Amino acid sequence: MERFTKLDDFQRQAWNLLFRATIEHSSAMRTPALATMDDRGIPRVRTVVLRKSETEKRSLYYFTDIRSDKCRELKHQPRASALFWDPRRHIQLRCTGQIDIHHGDDEAAVFWRDISKHGRKAYATEHAPGTPLGQYATGLPDNWSEQDLAATESYQDNFALLVHRIESMDALHLERDGHQRAEFHWESNQWRSNWVVP
Ligand SMILES: Cc1cc2nc3c(=O)[nH]c(=O)nc-3n(C[C@H](O)[C@H](O)[C@H](O)COP(=O)(O)O)c2cc1C
Repeated sequence: MERFTKLDDFQRQAWNLLFRATIEHSSAMRTPALATMDDRGIPRVRTVVLRKSETEKRSLYYFTDIRSDKCRELKHQPRASALFWDPRRHIQLRCTGQIDIHHGDDEAAVFWRDISKHGRKAYATEHAPGTPLGQYATGLPDNWSEQDLAATESYQDNFALLVHRIESMDALHLERDGHQRAEFHWESNQWRSNWVVP
């Protein structure tokens, strides 16, 4: 990847990579690490799948189980940070902003409709993610394999759409002749950007 000479080009490429990650399943950027803060101020981080990105809305979309720890943490502290790394283009992105949880509303329903039975498995466990088990178990209902897609509708109750509205982005480009790093902040309805020391 060539060096960026303009901040605008760097930012355009960053959002372009976030968009491509949602359509190229082999993209490493498809599985960012999402960091939240628990109620004791301790950071918690986990891998999620980037389902959609919208440059105009500065938004990144993830799916999760409403019963998960991350949702509890987001209700307490809605600001979160997502970390992306593209090993082919040597670009790291740190995207920070507020996450809105959509649960049982029209926005969540639009995404739920298109999730296959295989995908719905993530929301079909009888108990909340992280519940201790006396012995090994998948947590799925005993008759899971016999259920057809229509029978999995009730698991929508556990499904949540997370919409991450990006307020700041830190972009780093590793380059043989010298790294490049820039910050982009959304302020007064526009992006303000500057180069920073890598
Ligand atoms: C490759 C990969 C993709 C994952 N995608 C998601 C995802 O899209 N949503 C999700 O809630 N958990 C996903 N997980 C599981 C989370 O990393 C995590 O284990 C789980 O959500 C529980 O996190 P929590 O207890 O912090 O809420 C994924 C894990 C891996 C390894």
